[in-house]
Amino acid sequence: MLNLEAGASPSAAFKRATRRTRRYDGGGTENALMAHPSQSPPSTVAARIEDSVFAIRKRAPVEPKVGVVLGSGLGAFADTLDGGVRIPYRELPHMPASVVPGHAGSLCFGRVSGVSVVCMQGRLHLYEGYPIDRVVHGVRTMARLGVERVLLTNAAGALEPAWAAGDLMVITDHLNLTGISPLAGPNDEALGTRFPDMTGAYDPELREMLHVAGREVGVSLRDGVYAGVLGPQYETPAEVRMLRMHGAHAVGMSTVHEVIALRHMGVRVAALSCLTNLAAGIATRPLEHTEVEAVASSRRVALAALLRAWIAPGGAAR
Ligand code: HPA
Repeated sequence: MLNLEAGASPSAAFKRATRRTRRYDGGGTENALMAHPSQSPPSTVAARIEDSVFAIRKRAPVEPKVGVVLGSGLGAFADTLDGGVRIPYRELPHMPASVVPGHAGSLCFGRVSGVSVVCMQGRLHLYEGYPIDRVVHGVRTMARLGVERVLLTNAAGALEPAWAAGDLMVITDHLNLTGISPLAGPNDEALGTRFPDMTGAYDPELREMLHVAGREVGVSLRDGVYAGVLGPQYETPAEVRMLRMHGAHAVGMSTVHEVIALRHMGVRVAALSCLTNLAAGIATRPLEHTEVEAVASSRRVALAALLRAWIAPGGAAR
């Protein structure tokens, strides 16, 4: 049981975390630390999460039930939340602001048809140079805030020649081709088990809820496997052929680490790709990030309708 009230003494989990042997703390860009009653600098992943949760609770004393991560060009949804509180990442401890164009970098709280939601408007990517534990710090913090399910969205390249830019794909499974896991290193039992199972990582029931939501709002959805690569360069045509041979339907530079970190913590996950382009070699012209953003942004109305229907099935207040 975490004690998160302002001025409260540090929680048992926080004390346990700070008592452990000091280990590599991820380095990376530090924001100014917000005062925490423990006085001691946090040295573990669990302690940094508690630190962020503490800072958030002071500004947004809500208990979000649903988490949403908004990828490149998809951030507009957060602006549609009812009665929201917005906290720029740079004002949160341990949460470096993303520098990728199209990623706003705020944590947004609000409601959709009465359901309490927290949105990451923009995410950090491994290719930006952040250590992996910083890349997943935001979703781990959402998990500690108590969300029961998370929907991750991203922009991705389509590997199927018959598909089109602007198509939306429900992710059924992934290939983590980044060569790294957020769980590498000593396991933090405060977060989850050493060897989490990844069967059904993309929760079948939550995926079905996406399809139901799609039918409800008239947005057609594809299904497919997402290949997560490091980037930041787009793939070569040879890499795209290889990915297709290995059963992937879309390729992108995010999401897989967040899914692993969330499953580690036992949070149910669904994910959705906005296929902003045909991948290299299938596309007839060179890829550009501005085009990726523009196509993602052109789908914002459909995406917002889909997200709302998924977050609050039937629009019923809860
Ligand atoms: N490849 C990798 N990441 C992407 C792409 C792509 O073609 N499009 C959008 N994100």
